[in-house]
Amino acid sequence: MLKPGDVVYNNTHFDTTEANIVTKGARAENLPSPKSRDLETTDPFKGNIDVDALDARLSEKGARTPVVFVTVTNNTCGGQPVSLANLRAAKDVCAKHGVPLYLDAAALRGKRLLHPHA
Ligand SMILES: Cc1ncc(COP(=O)(O)O)c(C=O)c1O
Repeated sequence: MLKPGDVVYNNTHFDTTEANIVTKGARAENLPSPKSRDLETTDPFKGNIDVDALDARLSEKGARTPVVFVTVTNNTCGGQPVSLANLRAAKDVCAKHGVPLYLDAAALRGKRLLHPHA
């Protein structure tokens, strides 16, 4: 599925996911919500993917992205929750660009990690 020069986006890649992408000659780029780096905020969804950044990347001329990931939840992002609204928004952006969205729920261990409120 992946070819050299492809770019895969994710809120944050799990390390072995990234390793598999890089092994294929593709690039793995993390697009975490800017709130994930804000140590002062108590925002409950710091694991969200930055949907605006995703839309901008997929809109770039010559974009070569065969798949987008959202990882729920991911150590790389501090194990922070992702909202259902964010997942829906990511799905809409991917659908707009004809790119499949893959939900990596390997570490989904409880409903608090995929927050129903928002
Ligand atoms: C978020 C996530 N994705 C994927 C995996 C699977 O990794 P692997 O196939 O290397 O066991 C894990 C394993 O813990 C994980 O936590």
